[in-house]
Amino acid sequence: MTQLEMMADAELQEHYATLSQNYRNFQDKKLKLDMSRGKPCAEQLDLSSGLIDCLQPTDYRSADGIDCRNYGGVDGIPEAKELCSRILETTTSEIIVSGNSSLALMHDLIVRAILHGFPDSQTAWKNYPKIKFLCPSPGYDRHFGICEYLGIEMITIHYQSAGPDMDQVEKLVAQDESIKGIWCVPKYSNPTGITYSDSVVKRLAAMPAKAGDFRIFWDNAYAIHHLTDTPDHLLNILTACKQAGHPDRVFMFASTSKVSFPGAGIAMVGASEANINWLKKQMLQQTIGPDKLNQLRHIRFFKDLAGVESQMRRHAAIIKPKFDLVFSLLETHLGSKHIARWSKPNGGYFISFDTLPGCARKVVAKAAQAGVTLTAAGSTYPYGRDPEDKNIRIAPTLPPLPELQQAMELFVLCVQLVSTEQELQRRGLLP
Ligand SMILES: Cc1ncc(COP(=O)(O)O)c(C=O)c1O
Repeated sequence: MTQLEMMADAELQEHYATLSQNYRNFQDKKLKLDMSRGKPCAEQLDLSSGLIDCLQPTDYRSADGIDCRNYGGVDGIPEAKELCSRILETTTSEIIVSGNSSLALMHDLIVRAILHGFPDSQTAWKNYPKIKFLCPSPGYDRHFGICEYLGIEMITIHYQSAGPDMDQVEKLVAQDESIKGIWCVPKYSNPTGITYSDSVVKRLAAMPAKAGDFRIFWDNAYAIHHLTDTPDHLLNILTACKQAGHPDRVFMFASTSKVSFPGAGIAMVGASEANINWLKKQMLQQTIGPDKLNQLRHIRFFKDLAGVESQMRRHAAIIKPKFDLVFSLLETHLGSKHIARWSKPNGGYFISFDTLPGCARKVVAKAAQAGVTLTAAGSTYPYGRDPEDKNIRIAPTLPPLPELQQAMELFVLCVQLVSTEQELQRRGLLP
């Protein structure tokens, strides 16, 4: 039972009047704060300033003597492949290091499957009347955006504490040939913060699929983005797929967008050698090679995985206090009221927040009317439709702490206000 349900009518009305007055006070402050996207803050970007000028004019050759100023090397320079293979836990022949965006790699890979199919496809996906993807939700809105853009039907899969509902996934994948893929953000998931358990990873790798060319799109964007000294462990899905006899089932993605610079980092895709060799040939139709100078810059700046990991600890030192502030405000204002639930991730960029059913859109709208932009309610679900209208993605990294505090104080007020309005309406005390 919620705290609101336990209040007598008069007490509830008085509570509502106080909350409404507090809300008007916030509106008078004329805030203008943006918490809509998971962007690093300026202080985090400063950590990588050295990247900009770490290459001397004479320093342009990769380890194998290639002139990085020139065309070529579609799969990346050897030392970048070495570093990225450590991040994705592959061999250097199971990886391509590419341009600045892993999302672009995902998008293009699906377009290739639609136009030409994978090596093990009976036909290009465009030749099927319908293609479907499984979408564990709440999930990453841009994955869902790619599906919508490319006309792929999305099926919502519920999350459980250790990953997607695998009973649901296995049943659907085994029986429907038009289900060609599943989106997974397996570590510190966007937005739930969940890291898939070993059992979930093994079941994904081993499950029988009706579509012979079924693929897992394993977006490991937050593989190394820990917030604690005791990071979550994620099983290597490529190894699991090989062990289960499905070596070509998975494509894994990551980038240094939230390690160095979003938009000016390096992106990577890992998969079986067969998949990687096929993809290299496909990519050669698209580009004569990636920005190898940027790859070289990243190597000079970070040197090796240990260099990347110490950078990630510096990132954590900046953003952990922001997560802690959000947790503390949520606990103080909403902790005992039973009107909301939220995740407490060990890494990544987001906190997943659930209001009472039917409240999320109103909370986001109320926050916007008082000057705080949040990620649109519903965007964490396929087609922007949250069936229970309750999930909100909180992105604490971008604002400075004092602004974050103001934004979150408004947020918890909006949650209380909307929940109280709903309870008053339920009792017929508010139209
Ligand atoms: C899960 C996930 N994948 C991919 C991206 C974008 O990655 P990139 O900058 O490499 O395109 C993001 C950015 O927020 C993300 O949260």
